[in-house]
Amino acid sequence: MLSFLSLGLLAVPAVHASGSTFFARDDSANATNATIVDMVSSSWYAGWHADNFTLQNVSWDKYTHLIYSFAATTPLVSNITLNGSDADLLPQFVSMAKQNNVSAMVSVGGWAGSQYFSTNVASEENRTAFVKTITDFVQIYELDGIDFDWEYPGNQGIGCNVVSANDTNNFLSFLQALRADPVGSNLTLTASAPLKPYEGITNGSAFADVFDWINVMAYDVWGSWSPSVGPNAPLNDTCALLADQQGSAVSAVAAWTEAGVPAHQIALGVASYGRSFLVESALAYLEDNTVLAAFPPFNSTPLGDAWDNATNTDVCGNISGPSGVFDFWGMIDEGFLFANGTPAAAIDYRYDECSQTPYVYNKSTGVMISYDNAESFIAKGSYIANNNLRGFAMWEAGGDYDDILLDAIRQGAGFEDDC
Ligand SMILES: *[C@@H]1O[C@H](CO)[C@@H](O)[C@H](O)[C@H]1NC(C)=O
Ligand SMILES: *[C@@H]1O[C@H](CO)[C@@H](O)[C@H](O)[C@H]1NC(C)=O
Ligand SMILES: *[C@@H]1O[C@H](CO)[C@@H](O)[C@H](O)[C@H]1NC(C)=O
Ligand SMILES: *[C@@H]1O[C@H](CO)[C@@H](O)[C@H](O)[C@H]1NC(C)=O
Ligand SMILES: *[C@@H]1O[C@H](CO)[C@@H](O)[C@H](O)[C@H]1NC(C)=O
Ligand SMILES: *[C@@H]1O[C@H](CO)[C@@H](O)[C@H](O)[C@H]1NC(C)=O
Ligand SMILES: *[C@@H]1O[C@H](CO)[C@@H](O)[C@H](O)[C@H]1NC(C)=O
Ligand SMILES: *[C@@H]1O[C@H](CO)[C@@H](O)[C@H](O)[C@H]1NC(C)=O
Ligand SMILES: *[C@@H]1O[C@H](CO)[C@@H](O)[C@H](O)[C@H]1NC(C)=O
Ligand SMILES: *[C@@H]1O[C@H](CO)[C@@H](O)[C@H](O)[C@H]1NC(C)=O
Ligand SMILES: *[C@@H]1O[C@H](CO)[C@@H](O)[C@H](O)[C@H]1NC(C)=O
Ligand SMILES: *[C@@H]1O[C@H](CO)[C@@H](O)[C@H](O)[C@H]1NC(C)=O
Repeated sequence: MLSFLSLGLLAVPAVHASGSTFFARDDSANATNATIVDMVSSSWYAGWHADNFTLQNVSWDKYTHLIYSFAATTPLVSNITLNGSDADLLPQFVSMAKQNNVSAMVSVGGWAGSQYFSTNVASEENRTAFVKTITDFVQIYELDGIDFDWEYPGNQGIGCNVVSANDTNNFLSFLQALRADPVGSNLTLTASAPLKPYEGITNGSAFADVFDWINVMAYDVWGSWSPSVGPNAPLNDTCALLADQQGSAVSAVAAWTEAGVPAHQIALGVASYGRSFLVESALAYLEDNTVLAAFPPFNSTPLGDAWDNATNTDVCGNISGPSGVFDFWGMIDEGFLFANGTPAAAIDYRYDECSQTPYVYNKSTGVMISYDNAESFIAKGSYIANNNLRGFAMWEAGGDYDDILLDAIRQGAGFEDDC
């Protein structure tokens, strides 16, 4: 929920799930065998980064699902738009996915595209119309599924979304109407879900009945909006001081299962990027002056990698400074890491045992980054396997370098490497 202020981002033993294979939702209750046949290895593909991370750059053979992002909601219930996400590329994306037996999905909404979900599902008339908008879109582009990334039902996201106290219930009614539609009944439907179950949710199992699974976005937990430095994507936080328990994979999975969504219908949303902070060297270390502190104060947010901008204007018209985001490739590009993903010379490094995520610090520039690497992705993969989660979804495919992160989480989760 702390991602309210984040910018620009709005996120086995495996057999390749064939793009044309439909797994009945009820089968997911059969944990033992479901883990073998229906594990999910997925990433979002950001259309606006296609110039730099092309469709040919995608490691299709390591995925079961790829999610083209984003189709934004519009003031008209009859329209969703790929404006800003390279609409012309989507047909080629779908065709390449099909060639590779990967399910082709599109994510609707996102951090910047959720403005009008609320009105689109606010009445029965609009829900009927929005079902048609979605199913028409699916048929035009020959999609296998839709990911609903509403950030967030019943809560403000970017700052200018329409929000209603009835959002969560209306969303459920809409999804039920979509499932009752002959086209909608046959789709893979997922949500990109916040750390905390939807505002006012009363029966999560009703959502579990309509979604194949949900991707819990266990990132953007600490960043430029936070009171101190902290882990971007903590695996755990129940081991942290109370004030530092701002969310994690462990607490989010606990909250969603408590709300009624079975573990095997939860995929872990993971981040192929880190968040940076300007930290004075006198404050960057624990008392012994060698170990990096996990929650030091910071002065400002530096410019991240080449995908960040010094000034960002959002869809609400609000102007802000840099996001401070460093993609994993960007950390290599900017000299924090060697090309094999390990800390470069003169870069201080710490692996925080509670969040199970790494930090680096460049003493000469004062830039500290909390991020994910191979070790933390193996830990997240093991957590997925040990807790019978459905798999993972990585924001974003293009953030990785040389598949260092993708290979690590697949290894941790037990995907067979038949590639
Ligand atoms: C950053 O600037 C580029 C070039 O002006 C623009 O295409 C991109 O959308 C901007 N990114 C963000 C996050 O605003
Ligand atoms: C259901 O989906 C499968 C696979 O995508 C497809 O082959 C089939 O034609 C679809 N059925 C309907 C009724 O759309
Ligand atoms: C799980 O799958 C096995 C093998 O397909 C089947 O025999 C069993 O009945 C299933 N269990 C449930 C609870 O669906
Ligand atoms: C699960 O599948 C495996 C391999 O197909 C089979 O040997 C095993 O008996 C199944 N287990 C259950 C509990 O159905
Ligand atoms: C994409 O592929 C091209 C050609 O193989 C390569 O030169 C480029 O570095 C790749 N880009 C990324 C972001 O992986
Ligand atoms: C239904 O959608 C239209 C736009 O297509 C919007 O003007 C109207 O306010 C929506 N209805 C509700 C109850 O929000
Ligand atoms: C759909 O919405 C987009 C963005 O608001 C707009 O550019 C486009 O013209 C709309 N298309 C239709 C058919 O209304
Ligand atoms: C596409 O989005 C940009 C802002 O992201 C906006 O300036 C432009 O008007 C939009 N184009 C259409 C056709 O809606
Ligand atoms: C896709 O699946 C078909 C049928 O199962 C198989 O013949 C083909 O080799 C597969 N293609 C790839 C790229 O895995
Ligand atoms: C919520 O739904 C109820 C029942 O349909 C309706 O009476 C109420 O006006 C709605 N509230 C809002 C804020 O839209
Ligand atoms: C999270 O931390 C708690 C408390 O220290 C610990 O009991 C639990 O095993 C940890 N879970 C994981 C997945 O690391
Ligand atoms: C992205 O690609 C464009 C066009 O290929 C290139 O001009 C630009 O420098 C690239 N940006 C980054 C951040 O690599």
